[in-house]
Amino acid sequence: MTSTSPGHKRVVRLTGEEFRALLPDALAIYVAAMNYPPGTAQQRAPMWLTHILRAGWRSVAAFDSDDTLVGLAYGYRGSPGQWWYEQVRRGVLHHKDEATADAWLSDYFELTEIHVRPDHHGRGLGETLLRTLLDGVEQRHVLLSTPEGPTRAWRLYRRLGFVDVLRHYHFAGDPRAFAVLGRTLPLP
Ligand SMILES: CC(C)(COP(=O)(O)OP(=O)(O)OC[C@H]1O[C@@H](n2cnc3c(N)ncnc32)[C@H](O)[C@@H]1OP(=O)(O)O)[C@@H](O)C(=O)NCCC(=O)NCCS
Repeated sequence: MTSTSPGHKRVVRLTGEEFRALLPDALAIYVAAMNYPPGTAQQRAPMWLTHILRAGWRSVAAFDSDDTLVGLAYGYRGSPGQWWYEQVRRGVLHHKDEATADAWLSDYFELTEIHVRPDHHGRGLGETLLRTLLDGVEQRHVLLSTPEGPTRAWRLYRRLGFVDVLRHYHFAGDPRAFAVLGRTLPLP
């Protein structure tokens, strides 16, 4: 599927092979967008490649008019045994109850990463990426985690109707406070 977005960016679905080929550029955008130290890219590369193999994996990318990668998003079907699933379940069981955990976690798509090159922020490209990624996803919910706001990412998620699943949550090994947000699919 191909979408157009403000500024005439081309937003397309990627195959695993295309994602693999774009990985260095994708990680450069991730590091720039998140303001992480450059070494983070090397550390993340094997994990992003392993994710391609997960059930329901899908990815979208945005290209400028000269075919330069300017944004990407990916995710997959969440399931028991995955680190993120287990962390979120632990949090929901601790702060809420089993029924709430089951309601959110029994059938969801994990939005794992969404990043736009900083010089393209604030023009609607993130929303186009997210809508294109989620178009046709079969799961009942989409879930994500994001550092506690306020950030542009927060504005995007709230605008698209994401609600709180967990707030000020600490994933194992990370001192930062995160929110876990979710909503039903499909998006309106
Ligand atoms: C989060 C992120 C992907 C969002 O992408 P983005 O393109 O900057 O954001 P959006 O698509 O939401 O852009 C909407 C903004 O563009 C503006 N805009 C301009 N023209 C627009 C249009 N035609 N359609 C929609 N929005 C438009 C909106 O007013 C809105 O402004 P606001 O964010 O100040 O409210 C991006 O900011 C990013 O990479 N951030 C750093 C990394 C990050 O936090 N990733 C998520 C981690 S969980």
